[in-house]
Parts: sequence; C-alpha cells; structure tokens
Amino acid sequence: TRTPVNVTVTGAAGQIGYALLFRIASGHLLGPDVPVNLRLLEIPQGLKAAEGTAMELDDCAFPLLRNIEITDDANVGFAGANVALLVGARPRTKGMERGDLLSANGGIFKPQGKAINDNAADDIKVLVVGNPANTNALIAQAAAPDVPAERFTAMTRLDHNRAISQLAARTGAAVSDIKRLTIWGNHSATQYPDIFHAEIAGKNAAEVVNDEAWLADTFIPTVAKRGAAIIEARGASSAASAANAAIDHVHTWVNGTAEGDWTSMGIPSDGSYGVPEGIISSFPVTTKDGKYEIVQGLDINEFSRARIDASVQELSEERDAVRELGLI
Ligand code: NAI
Repeated sequence: TRTPVNVTVTGAAGQIGYALLFRIASGHLLGPDVPVNLRLLEIPQGLKAAEGTAMELDDCAFPLLRNIEITDDANVGFAGANVALLVGARPRTKGMERGDLLSANGGIFKPQGKAINDNAADDIKVLVVGNPANTNALIAQAAAPDVPAERFTAMTRLDHNRAISQLAARTGAAVSDIKRLTIWGNHSATQYPDIFHAEIAGKNAAEVVNDEAWLADTFIPTVAKRGAAIIEARGASSAASAANAAIDHVHTWVNGTAEGDWTSMGIPSDGSYGVPEGIISSFPVTTKDGKYEIVQGLDINEFSRARIDASVQELSEERDAVRELGLI
C-alpha cells in the first residue's frame, strides 16, 4: 500500500477550509488511490471549530483518510508536509491601506514560510490561496531559502475556471470543449483572462467570439469582478468554488495537464513574456510528473500586451512594497 501523503491546510476552520477538507479526504486532491494525513493549522481561536470539522471528517469514514492532526503551531502543522494549502489570511477590512494589508499578511506568511523551510518534506508543494495570494506566496517563498523557489505557487485557477464558464455560456460550447485559456498576472481586478490562444472544439476562441467589445467590456470585467458579484449575491465570499479551484490546481500540478491543453498558475517568473523575474505571476503552464513549465512562444497582441503589463505592474508594486516593509 502507498505511504500516505501529508497535506497541511491553514485556515482549516474557515469557509474555504470547510469546503476543501472533505474533498481532500475523499481523494479528489491527489487521486482515488492516494491515502492522506491531514494537518489542520489554525490560530488559537479557530482550534475548536477545526476540531468540530475533524469530527465530521471522522464521521465520513473516508477510506483514504489516515489521520488528522490539529494545531496552532506552524512547526507542527508543516512537519513532513508534502502539500501545503495556505488558505488562512488576513482579509482587507474597511479603510485598510495596502501597506497595512501587506504587513498583516507578512505576519502570517513569513513565519509560515520559515516553518515550511524548517519542517516540510523535501518534495513540498505550496499553494497560496489567502489574499493577496501572489504576494503572500512571494513572502512565504522568501522565508524559505532551502525550498526550491518554484514550489511556491499562487491560485489563479478560480479565475481560470470562471473564464472558461463565461466563455462556454457566451458561445454555447461545452466546458470540456474549451482548452488553452490563460489567466495572466495578479489574482486581483487587474488579472487578464486571455482567449486569443484558447480553443473551442478546436477552433480559435477569439475568432469564434469575434467581438472585441464583448471581450473588453463584458468578459474581462465579469471574470475579474466575479468575486465581488458572489459576495453581493450570497452575502459571503466564494468558498466552494475557491476550494474546488485549489483542488484543481494541486491535482493538475501533481497529475499533469491533458495533451494539447494547459492551465493557469501563479508561479515565480523566469522572465518569460517580459514579466520581471522573481515576481509570482499567473502564466499558461503545462504540468507533468509533478513539475510545471511555462508555455513558450505565444504571440501576444497589443490588446493582450497592455493588459498583461498593467497587471504585472501591480505585482511589481506589491513586491516593492513588501520589500520596503522588510518582508522579503
Ligand atoms: P475565512 O475568514 O472563512 O477563514 C479564514 C480562516 O483562516 C479562519 O478560520 C482564521 O482563523 C484562519 N487563520 C487566520 N490567520 C491564520 C494563521 N496565521 N494561521 C492559520 N489560520 C489562520 O476565509 P475564507 O473565506 O476561507 O477565505 C480564506 C482566504 O482565501 C481569504 O484570504 C480570501 O480572500 C482568499 N480567497 C482566495 C481566492 C483565490 O482565488 N485566490 C478565492 C476566494 C478566497
């Protein structure tokens, strides 16, 4: 039998945690034949609720779930971790400046990065979900000099999935017919969902849509502002869809992209497509055997260039800000 994979989830008692843990335990994160140990990392106020969730996990009698550990000590939470999902973060509250938001999150992601550095397994893979996800990932990465930089990733898969769904609705295509969609840049309102290289049942998506005004004025803002629209409708932020995207991100990273397709991941830039090296930006990537590669050689038209540059500019500013705060 296979050795269980240790999966650490921070913010385990939160909304996303509640939607995420049951799917990890039922085999959707890694595969139907991979046993898992769950490590739930919370702050002291979250421990009791995490214990309640663990009771429910027990009550599911998931055949793949070996054990659950609950802790507020990051060194314990990340001990031997093979996969870490960093969900817990400090949300922006009313009147909070960007600097305050970044330092509050620095206080979370810097020590967690260090704890990963000191305690995780050699093959650790990290996905940051907690916002601002790209820059939180950068902070954690900087605090983990012994972990290869490319193991720190940020989630733009929810944006990717949202864009596929919007494109399917507009064109009447099946979701499964849409391939090679790309989210570029930051997981924020400046993100750029790119359909110029996407395919719908083998045809170029931009040609199928053939409506640049729809792209600029409807599609892009709908995808970029979807989070706010969910809050408005549901009275709470996206949780199940965010958890689903986290599952997709890790599953694709571990198990590979399909032939002829790619996905979107926030990853440290190697300078491709003019994105400054080192910032954690979303790119089109293929994955295989637990490794990812940026899709190279795509033609970037003017429409795309301006939007990628704007989002990357925002990421560079966030990096400069956390540098000034001494967080990286
Ligand atoms: P939530 O507020 O329901 O849960 C957050 C949990 O994190 C709480 O239980 C809290 O106690 C815990 N926490 C806070 N600091 C912690 C620390 N230092 N260590 C461990 N746990 C800690 O929030 P929700 O809805 O689950 O969202 C979590 C994060 O995910 C937010 O930052 C949200 O903005 C982000 N998000 C990101 C998305 C993406 O596409 N990248 C999509 C949706 C949400």
